[in-house]
Amino acid sequence: MTGHGRMAALHMAFVSLEGENGPDLLSHLHELAFAGQDEKPWSAEEFRQMVVLQGVSAAVAYVDEIPVGFALWRRVLDEAELITIGVVPAARGQGYARHMLTFIGEQLKAAGGEKLFLEVRADNAPAIDLYRSSGFQEIGQRRRYYQTQSGKRVDALCLMLILNNPDADK
Ligand SMILES: CC(C)(COP(=O)(O)OP(=O)(O)OC[C@H]1O[C@@H](n2cnc3c(N)ncnc32)[C@H](O)[C@@H]1OP(=O)(O)O)[C@@H](O)C(=O)NCCC(=O)NCCS
Repeated sequence: MTGHGRMAALHMAFVSLEGENGPDLLSHLHELAFAGQDEKPWSAEEFRQMVVLQGVSAAVAYVDEIPVGFALWRRVLDEAELITIGVVPAARGQGYARHMLTFIGEQLKAAGGEKLFLEVRADNAPAIDLYRSSGFQEIGQRRRYYQTQSGKRVDALCLMLILNNPDADK
């Protein structure tokens, strides 16, 4: 790491959904990351309940021991889904979300994952930019799929990333 490098070292740590602290931390980070997006925060209990999903994993991103982001995803055989991801506002624009995506992709590839799917609100430009520039392709849309906290209906884009693609750099 050089002194003028913009990105401080990011460290990813897996979080247990069954422990006391993990779901609390995830819920706290989710609330910070999604603040102002008209989206209902997920409680610690809701994160805890995710444990029933087969193949679910959660991780928190730390910079200098400070949690700055989180992600939740699941893999079943060769297909995976990114369930949620976020970076706290104060830590945005420094490549942390992209770093988390790379980390998740590496984990999935090592476990035999071949495709990563996600849904994103059609009005979430920063996230759509992040996914497109990380190699995700649009595979469909779901009209009025999301209901925001205030009751607004918003379309979802369905995106897919091919992992392990030897042509990815072409
Ligand atoms: C979307 C989000 C995770 C991006 O986190 P981040 O750490 O700031 O993103 P990065 O710094 O890794 O940026 C990676 C790319 O994302 C895109 N991006 C990030 N912020 C952006 C913004 N405000 N406007 C447009 N594009 C943006 C860019 O393509 C960027 O690449 P570049 O820096 O080479 O231009 C963050 O804004 C966030 O937590 N938002 C609220 C929660 C959310 O919407 N999660 C996704 C739900 S599907």
